[in-house]
Amino acid sequence: MPLNDCRIIELPKITDPRGNLTFVEGGNHIPFDIKRVYYLYDVPGGSDRGSHAHRNLHQFIIAMSGSFDIVLDDGERQRRFHLNRSYYGLYICPMMWRTLDNFSSGGVCMVLASAVYDPADYIRDHDEFMHLVHAKKGGDLNHPLETPHR
Ligand code: TYD
Repeated sequence: MPLNDCRIIELPKITDPRGNLTFVEGGNHIPFDIKRVYYLYDVPGGSDRGSHAHRNLHQFIIAMSGSFDIVLDDGERQRRFHLNRSYYGLYICPMMWRTLDNFSSGGVCMVLASAVYDPADYIRDHDEFMHLVHAKKGGDLNHPLETPHR
């Protein structure tokens, strides 16, 4: 299931009395090349972000400061992840409905993405998302019936 493809990935951490250092290499620590970086900051308490899915985009999300939660939904199951350290992040595969909430004050959410911004890649309607998930699932299940053994 796609939800199992989404996972926490721990990053290298170079500890040093002068301050710790963490790095991310696209295609090495995370399973895609990085084409875009964006971040959410100054998020008011109680705010929700996200509430959409992406058709093709891969993302890796890190809490650079403070903490927040990410709820993932593959159309069948939901899972809540709490991010609160800058040396790990959550990999999100395509076709995953996501909501970000529970931001702490000073929470900064950095997103590494596999493509530049493309509004056509967004699915913002949950009904449409469910329809696409079930169409894909039906397609997968029906596939053997397309070439029946006689
Ligand atoms: P959106 O992705 O909906 O934010 P979130 O999922 O964090 O709630 O983006 C909010 C607005 O910012 C929307 O008008 C599109 C714009 N935007 C860009 O122009 N470029 C980007 O890379 C991103 C992520 C958003």
